[in-house]
Amino acid sequence: MNHQLLKGKKGIIFGALDERSLGWKVAQRATHEGAQIVLTNAPIALRMGKINELAKECNNAPVIPADATSMPDLENLFQKSMEAFGGKIDFVLHSVGMSPNVRKNIPYTDTNYENFHKTLDISALSLHRVLQVAMKMDALNEWSSVVALSYIAAQRSFPGYNDMADAKALLESIARSFGYHYGFAKKVRVNTISQSPTPTTAGSGVAGFDVFFEYAEKMSPLGNASGEDCANYCLSLFSDYTRMVTMQNLFHDGGFSATGVSEPIVDQMTKALQVNG
Ligand SMILES: NC(=O)c1ccc[n+]([C@@H]2O[C@H](COP(=O)([O-])OP(=O)(O)OC[C@H]3O[C@@H](n4cnc5c(N)ncnc54)[C@H](O)[C@@H]3O)[C@@H](O)[C@H]2O)c1
Repeated sequence: MNHQLLKGKKGIIFGALDERSLGWKVAQRATHEGAQIVLTNAPIALRMGKINELAKECNNAPVIPADATSMPDLENLFQKSMEAFGGKIDFVLHSVGMSPNVRKNIPYTDTNYENFHKTLDISALSLHRVLQVAMKMDALNEWSSVVALSYIAAQRSFPGYNDMADAKALLESIARSFGYHYGFAKKVRVNTISQSPTPTTAGSGVAGFDVFFEYAEKMSPLGNASGEDCANYCLSLFSDYTRMVTMQNLFHDGGFSATGVSEPIVDQMTKALQVNG
């Protein structure tokens, strides 16, 4: 599939750690669709990951380190990106998430608050920081599109998701609140995409991931949305075909969010009851 949907557009892509990352797939697809991109990630992730391979594949995209919780890093990122592009930016993908509590297996009800603050700062406030820096530097063209990636634990309880659930609720709220201000100020749109569980480093780090991946697969009429599908949806939001969409949380989950129960789940429960009975 190649429609040159993003021909002439310039964007910054956060969070490509390895080939499974959603950010990685967006970078590949955006380049394929004609965009010019800058890649960024936290300095430590750049040292450990293999972003240079991706950069090469993306027409030698510049790689600019930035910790998404650091204002000076973000200012440097936007400044250097505009220099590399020779102008302003048309789209940003925020694909950033990390919870020290999840990493350390600390239960939600016994949370460590220092970790909790870090979760919120890295996974949610970072979107506010990105938007604030972009707005102050007037770095985004009119009708630009900013997309952040979320998960349905923002609306419903998924116990293994821990404090990331609260971070996603805040992330979606920031998209709405900042989207209001940026829309009036500069016609910039801000949305979140609520993606199906996807086997990536961040995704598989959540307790019980394999089980709820299978559960979501069976609950969703279309099955789980893959990382590639997620990338395509991001591209549509960066494109001019979605100019009037802003301040939304958009479910990209094969119908999971609108399904109460599905026949495959009922069948499985019935079989389990028969075996146990
Ligand atoms: N994988 C899933 O099941 C799933 C589902 C819905 C939403 N999401 C969201 O998608 C986004 C991308 O995650 P992924 O699944 O591709 O996993 P991933 O682990 O590949 O990506 C997460 C990225 O966040 C980056 N990051 C962490 N701390 C950072 C910091 N301080 N500054 C800058 N970057 C930092 C990491 O280096 C990494 O590249 C996350 O927001 C995640 O919550 C994932």
